[in-house]
Amino acid sequence: MDGNGRWSEQKGKHRVFGHKHGVKALRKAIVFAAEQKIQALTIFAFSSENWKRPEEEVNMLMELFFTVLGGEVKTLHKNNIKLNIIGDIASFSDRLQKKIHAAHLLTANNTGLALNVAANYGGRWDITNATRQIAQQAVDGSLNVEDINEALLTQTLSLSELPDIDLMIRTGGDYRISNFLLWQLAYAELYFTDTLWPDFDAQSFQLAVDAFKSKERRFGQTSAQITS
Ligand code: IPE
Ligand code: MG
Repeated sequence: MDGNGRWSEQKGKHRVFGHKHGVKALRKAIVFAAEQKIQALTIFAFSSENWKRPEEEVNMLMELFFTVLGGEVKTLHKNNIKLNIIGDIASFSDRLQKKIHAAHLLTANNTGLALNVAANYGGRWDITNATRQIAQQAVDGSLNVEDINEALLTQTLSLSELPDIDLMIRTGGDYRISNFLLWQLAYAELYFTDTLWPDFDAQSFQLAVDAFKSKERRFGQTSAQITS
């Protein structure tokens, strides 16, 4: 979800204005994903690196996260959406952590859209965290080093209950992954658009899905193999 700041600056407004409109765009994206029966939607809300922003903006984003989480969870639950916050949430304030746990608990058994919100998330953090857990099991003697394989890594990382990612959309005109789901994106189709996040609507989402549908996904095979 990139481009909130530029969107507000273009309008001569403070960055907070863009972030608030970014929340509106997020609601639209969730509705679209649920209506289209997309299995999972993972959004990058706050990266491990976003702490480096001016303190005022970080505080504002935390406050916005807290308010939105508190205000939206019931609606998500009513719509059978399973909410999962991924990332190093231990660095958040106690009250935010409590809200996160309550949201997980409330929506845990929902069977509709899996909505994952990456907060204080970094792909490198995720891989490092999984590596630490695996190493600990090896040290404890509950795991043989020979049993460390790609499947085990996948199971230990965030989003382990979901299949590999099909499509990554980045708004805001930059062609980067910016430490998002590095492992999980291995075979994802990458879609970049200049549209700034607050302007990203159902039509923009549909364009991205259409682009995805037009791709031939070979997973290392030849075109002839997969079309035969
Ligand atoms: C994305 O918009 C939202 C967050 C990272 C929280 P930005 O705040 O990065 O917007 P730009 O890139 O400055 O326009
Ligand atoms: Mg940005």
